[in-house]
Amino acid sequence: MDKVYLNGEYLALSEAKISVLDRGFLFGDGVYEVIPSYSGHLFKLQEHLHRLENSLSLIRLDFAYTTAQWLEILLPLLGDGRDQYIYLQITRGVSAKRDHAFPADVTPTVFAMCSDIKPLSNIEKGVKALTIEDSRWEMCNVKATTLLANVLLRQQAVEQGCAEAILHRQGYVTEGAASNLFAVINDVLMTPKKTTEILPGITRQVILELAKKNEIQCNEAMISLAALQSASEIWITSSTREIIPVVELDSVKVGKGVAGPLWQKMNQFFQENKSLI
Ligand code: PDD
Repeated sequence: MDKVYLNGEYLALSEAKISVLDRGFLFGDGVYEVIPSYSGHLFKLQEHLHRLENSLSLIRLDFAYTTAQWLEILLPLLGDGRDQYIYLQITRGVSAKRDHAFPADVTPTVFAMCSDIKPLSNIEKGVKALTIEDSRWEMCNVKATTLLANVLLRQQAVEQGCAEAILHRQGYVTEGAASNLFAVINDVLMTPKKTTEILPGITRQVILELAKKNEIQCNEAMISLAALQSASEIWITSSTREIIPVVELDSVKVGKGVAGPLWQKMNQFFQENKSLI
């Protein structure tokens, strides 16, 4: 990462500084996006910008850039065409004093940086996951920087040798601490339906489209924890990790304990789709 973008300037990372009165710092009062870039092209940019607009509107942050304005900011951050991702964040800005309520006349803080996507080595071996009660708030459809619950949940999983926490509420699974969830249950691909309890993942949407195009039945429905435990395949999906097979859930093998046949297919479709941009 050579340079980052902060409020109209490109700076060395060590030079990029914000005020301690920034509401992102004090309250986690902001939203963010993570946009992958393959061969120098931002993957599903419109979809990410649309979700960003939605997040901004749900937290009542009055801020809008056009796609052209975003491209002007983001393209100079990209490197030589290797797989990378843009992290961008908008906070409500710097207020004169600490007060929970919105300050008047405040300018939002805009920050963006680019990092390499590090592919998981030996992805077919899959990862382990732990199921945990979902302790997050009721606006999980907002991609908010307020991520303390997600941080604690992921850490709990990591401390038990797992790559991800798979969350559930009242007996039904929602998503991962930083990923969406798919499962093959009774030979049918399923994913929890879009509600305010999950982030509407862009990778999730791409998989739904690829399933439709390739005539793979995929149901968006409530998935009970018991049904998940009977799944022959479980995948977690995100912009930085793409589609990862979960081969062990709560120390019990999922299916044969290796990446399943539907994952093989879908991962191939996904890789082909990525290279089409
Ligand atoms: N997180 N659900 C949650 C809670 C997430 O944090 C993420 C991604 C996803 C997947 O969304 P997408 O496919 O659009 O990346 C679902 C990003 C990568 C992060 O916080 O770093």
